[in-house]
Amino acid sequence: MSDSYFTRIYAHRGGGTLAPENTVQALQLAHQMGFQGVEFDVMLTADDEPVLMHDAEFGRTVFGTGQMNETRWEDLQRKNAGAWFKDPRYAGARVPHLDHALSYCSARSMHMNVEIKPAPGRDARTGEVAAGLCARYFAQAAAGVPLLSSFSREALQAAAQAAPHLPRAQLWRELPQDWAAQLAALGCVAAHVRHDHLDEARCAAIKAAGYGLMAYTVNEPRRARELLAWGVDAICTDRLDLIGPRFR
Ligand code: G3P
Ligand code: MG
Repeated sequence: MSDSYFTRIYAHRGGGTLAPENTVQALQLAHQMGFQGVEFDVMLTADDEPVLMHDAEFGRTVFGTGQMNETRWEDLQRKNAGAWFKDPRYAGARVPHLDHALSYCSARSMHMNVEIKPAPGRDARTGEVAAGLCARYFAQAAAGVPLLSSFSREALQAAAQAAPHLPRAQLWRELPQDWAAQLAALGCVAAHVRHDHLDEARCAAIKAAGYGLMAYTVNEPRRARELLAWGVDAICTDRLDLIGPRFR
């Protein structure tokens, strides 16, 4: 198991700081810059459509007020997800459906880390729907399938039931003492850990146990090099300009 599930560098939320997060335009930028890996967040609309979205509440990246939980896909498509970025090139960006991201990335052989990001109270359903769509999309594929990750164990459990053959990773802001037991219990292939909670010993232990390891969100090249030297398989970065697809 482990590092075969990864490419080395992932563009966080599609385009990091260089494009409005979780939009098709962000994925396009990552592709244009040569990235072979992208991370994005997936949440459900009120009518259970999986879309690329980080926040359960509108106002930061989606213009206006409201909750994703209460917004139907039909209405979400009319909302603006690019104006906040204040770059005229992205002023008309919308919230994409997961289906769109899957087709865009797979057609360009970009590996996807699909982060299942449930709105409050929707953990299991988000895991089930997001994993189910990925599984249908990649039904025939043996390689290059998305890596599903989540902070939510309930979402990962549901993902495992909906798509047992798709690899899963547990996200942690802080590595718990019983990380190995938690990974094993959910059949995860990897740990995705906030980089400032990783040190050389923790990296070595995770790798020695046979798991993949991604560090997020790493925006300084020196720190990225240190983590890679400690055995981290993959880096998720906002700084596409500093930690590029061929970063060493
Ligand atoms: O998947 C890594 C990272 O995206 C997790 O944090 O809040 O940026 O989704 P967040
Ligand atoms: Mg994320």
